[in-house]
Amino acid sequence: MRPYALRGDFIWTPSPGALELRPGAYAVCDENGLCAGVFDVLPESYAGLPVRDLGDTLIVPGYSDLHTHAAQYRDMGLGMDHELIGWLSDLTYPEEARFADAAFAREIYGRFAAELRAGFTTRACIFASAHREGTEILMDILDMTGLKTFVGKVNMDRNAPDYLRERDAAFAAEDTERWLSETMGRYENTKPILTPRFVPSCTPEAMEALGAIRRKWGVPVQSHLDETPEEVAWVRELCPDSESYAHVYDAAGMLGPDAVMAHCIYLTDPEVALLKARGTFIAHCPASNMNVRSGIAPIRRYLDEGLNIGLGTDISGGHTLDMGQAVRDALSVSRLLWRLREEKPPHLAAAEAFYLATAGGGAFFGKAGKFEPGYAFDAVAVDDGGWRDPGDGLDIRFQKMIYRAASRNVVSKYVAGRRLF
Ligand code: GUN
Ligand code: FE
Repeated sequence: MRPYALRGDFIWTPSPGALELRPGAYAVCDENGLCAGVFDVLPESYAGLPVRDLGDTLIVPGYSDLHTHAAQYRDMGLGMDHELIGWLSDLTYPEEARFADAAFAREIYGRFAAELRAGFTTRACIFASAHREGTEILMDILDMTGLKTFVGKVNMDRNAPDYLRERDAAFAAEDTERWLSETMGRYENTKPILTPRFVPSCTPEAMEALGAIRRKWGVPVQSHLDETPEEVAWVRELCPDSESYAHVYDAAGMLGPDAVMAHCIYLTDPEVALLKARGTFIAHCPASNMNVRSGIAPIRRYLDEGLNIGLGTDISGGHTLDMGQAVRDALSVSRLLWRLREEKPPHLAAAEAFYLATAGGGAFFGKAGKFEPGYAFDAVAVDDGGWRDPGDGLDIRFQKMIYRAASRNVVSKYVAGRRLF
């Protein structure tokens, strides 16, 4: 692509809590769609570069949604008087079953993709349903959005209704390999990610077969871990010989720097150590954790422990695809944890929650989420004119953006250097 520069008011976080504020600066995108740097004055060597002036909009790195369910798009806002296990059986499984119908999948996935494309999100890890054909429809649609996405065909061969469950472990493995052979390398922007739903949904045979597939194909993996006390107790019953829930995944080779586990609210100390040793990512999904009454993940502590963490919308446990809301919710639940816990654990600061949404989650995709040389040029322009006061400095505008900006305020978006709108 032809190199160019954007001019505007840039904000990003190089490390948790640190904030770069660069008013009226120039970010250069090179011929590979990578950031070449941010400059207060465009250097001589870039003279003649096309410059798009975004005026006084705020420009932030794109946000990574590390965990969401496209097949639950229609259910956003419904079923919020359930806890996880009943919510899955009464609401979620019947809805996901409908994605056996290709025309239905095309319609709903189209709506999901259009909404995802419009907001802060530039990269995402997405669950489809257990249906191979429907999953490929979602991948076709997402590839065309220009967003960078990992999409998973869900595996579930136990503890699910007959109409949704994969027949047995052999079928799950066969169908998954067929799906991988049909989708690996087929898309510019979308890649397959192995998706055992969670331990209760996968027999030991299926988990082992999927582990072998993961090694053979070198694919990343996404799943759920330690979301509710009832779920953790269920896993202990199902896997009495395992040291912990996380160790079940580890035994099958499902952890690693290319693995993302949603929730992780109830991690034990050995599980924290294991996730850290493997470099596994945590997808913190605060809206979902509130809605389904799962609990509050001690994210600030996990950050201090050096774990890899990003944010997820987790629809339809979560009720919105707006990653701006995920940032606010991460801050809210972190402060509630401070209030509720005797020992008053430090809570997240705004710049830390912003870090999780940008650089934290972006790291799952390689170099993404910062305006630094060599990072993917993912940029989101936010119009804060609706609430900006004359004389607001960039630090004040940042704080207001965190609490006030929603998807509708995103006025322009670039992913890997390509302008989407
Ligand atoms: N655990 C297993 N499946 C799901 C799901 O679809 N959503 C959430 N939030 N947790 C799960
Ligand atoms: Fe989920």
